[in-house]
Amino acid sequence: MKKTARAHTNIALIKYWGKADQALKTPLMSSLSMTLDAFYTDTTFEHDSSLTEDTFILNDQKQSVEDSKRVFNYIHLLQEKFGVNDHFTIRSTNHVPTSAGLASSASAFAALATSFVASYGLDLSKKELSRLARLGSGSATRSVYGGFVEWKKGFDDESSYAAPIDENPDLDLSLLAIEVNTKQKKISSTKGMQLAQTSPFYQPWLARNEEEIAEIKQAIQNNDFTRIGELSELSANEMHACNLTAKEPFTYFEPETIKIIKLVEDLRKNGIECYYTIDAGPNVKILCTLRNRKDIISAVQKTLTNVKIVVASFGPGVTLL
Ligand code: ADP
Ligand code: DP6
Repeated sequence: MKKTARAHTNIALIKYWGKADQALKTPLMSSLSMTLDAFYTDTTFEHDSSLTEDTFILNDQKQSVEDSKRVFNYIHLLQEKFGVNDHFTIRSTNHVPTSAGLASSASAFAALATSFVASYGLDLSKKELSRLARLGSGSATRSVYGGFVEWKKGFDDESSYAAPIDENPDLDLSLLAIEVNTKQKKISSTKGMQLAQTSPFYQPWLARNEEEIAEIKQAIQNNDFTRIGELSELSANEMHACNLTAKEPFTYFEPETIKIIKLVEDLRKNGIECYYTIDAGPNVKILCTLRNRKDIISAVQKTLTNVKIVVASFGPGVTLL
C-alpha cells in the first residue's frame, strides 16, 4: 500500500528548546506556533512484502544508510507500535531548505507519520497523529494542524500533543523568511537544545514559560499584532541567549543574521512595525502586517543584496494527497 501526505512547516513564536525525555521527545516547555503556507513537505510511504530493503529517497536522491538512520529508526518504532514489519520505500520532497533552521523536520515528520498511518489503513485521531509525529521530531507535533497551534508539554507520551488555537486566524500577519544561508547547520536542533540547558539562564526561562504562553494566547485572542510580535521576539532571544551562555557556548547567528536584527530594530524606530524570530539556523523570519510588507522587503534587499526572501502567511494542517 502506498499513500502520500503533505504537511506544512511551522515556526514557533514561543519556542520549544529542550526535552524532558529524549526518546519520547516530550518537551520541558509548552510552545506555540504558526503553520506556514509557503513551506511544506510531500511524502509517499509505500510498504510491500515483496520489497527486499528499506529505502529513503529525499529530493530524488537515494539517501545513504547513515543519512537514513533517523527516518528508519522512526519507522521501525512505529511498526513495532502497530505490530507490522514489512519493508518500505519513503519518497519525500522538501519544499523548504533541509536542516537550515526553516523547520524541515516539522513538515517532514508530520508528513511521514500521516503517510505511514494511511498506508496501513490505521484509523487515528489528529491528537494521536500529533503524538506520533512528536516521536519523529518535536516541532512536527504542531504541524498536524494549521493556523496558530499550541503544543501543551504534558508529562508523558499520552499527554504531550498539540491542539489548534485557531486554524483560520483572521489576523493580518505575514512572515518574511530571509534565507541568509540554507546550508546544513553544524549543530542539529536535538544537540543544540541539550547544550542550551547548561546555561544559567535556562531555568529562569523555563519558569516563565506558562506566563509567556498565556500572554501570547491572550494577544492572539485580541488580534494584537504588537504583543504577538514582542513576545515572539523575546522567546527567540531567550533561546539564543541560552545558546550563547551554555557551558560550551555556541550560536546559530552569522553576520547577516545580526544585520537583519539591527535592520528590524531600525525599521521599528522609524515607525515601520516588525519583529524577528530565529530558529536553529542563521535565517531570520520577520513578522509584519501587509501595510509594511513592501517597505520591509526593499529595506532587506538594500541591506543584503541577492538574498532570497519568501513571503508566507498561515498554512493548513496535514492532508492526504
Ligand atoms: P530543520 O531546521 O530543517 O528542522 P533539523 O536538524 O531539526 O533541521 O532536522 C533536519 C532532519 O530532519 C534531517 O537531518 C533529517 O533527518 C530530517 N528530515 C528533513 N527532511 C526530511 C524529509 N523530507 N523526510 C524525512 N526526514 C527529513
Ligand atoms: C528552534 O523539533 O527540530 O525550531 O525534537 O530534536 O527533532 P527535535 O528538534 P526540532 O527543534 C525545533 C527547535 C526550534 C523551536 C521550535 O520549533 O519550537
